[in-house]
Amino acid sequence: MGRKFFVGGNWKMNGDKESIDKIIDFLKAGPLDPNCDVVVGVPAPYLMYCRERLPENVGVAAQNCHKAAKGAFTGEIAAAMIKDCGCKWVILGHSERRNVAFALENGLHIIPCIGEKLEEREAGKTEEVCFKQLKAIADKVSDWSRVVLAYEPVWAIGTGKTATPEQAQETHAALRKWLSENVSPEVAENLRILYGGSVTAANCKELAKCADIDGSLVGGASLKPEFVEIINASQ
Ligand code: 13P
Repeated sequence: MGRKFFVGGNWKMNGDKESIDKIIDFLKAGPLDPNCDVVVGVPAPYLMYCRERLPENVGVAAQNCHKAAKGAFTGEIAAAMIKDCGCKWVILGHSERRNVAFALENGLHIIPCIGEKLEEREAGKTEEVCFKQLKAIADKVSDWSRVVLAYEPVWAIGTGKTATPEQAQETHAALRKWLSENVSPEVAENLRILYGGSVTAANCKELAKCADIDGSLVGGASLKPEFVEIINASQ
């Protein structure tokens, strides 16, 4: 098992200084599995606040970044700004956005997210949809060592409806096979693929046991102390 377990917390548009301080407290108290990479995706106004207060072993990610170095883009944030705040990572949403290439060229580590909608799964199109999204990402990736891929079925996000370990494993294995055939066997072997969508302390251990699930990207539960249990799921 060469792939290190990885758990990302995606805070989305949640938190203020008071509640963030509480998250920082439970992350500091841990204890966190040293064999797990932990990164939290924080709202942009709190990037520096979090980086200055979180321990070094917890990475900080922005939740998106723009595809140009700077300029007249109201409301956007630049890759260089994220790095200037001391943060190394960015979560990137839509697979077809060109920011994948730009963020990598600018030295960030990226967590691109892919996943099918419910009607696509029901129509038997899960793999077709995910492969198309993954291809759009793969076409832009220059350095796979700075990529952690997240598979987030849209129907499982924030719904309390987790994919079963079998459903998630099946898709993760298909993604790895696609990578092996379309990028390289080495990239397929080494790339960490996270599952995201209603991960909780109650279901994280079963998911972590699956051969092709290398961690999770956690929304709601990353705001609560149970996030520590999710980080330690593979112990
Ligand atoms: P939930 O864990 O709240 O379902 O969110 C998942 C997600 O979108 C993480 O990026």
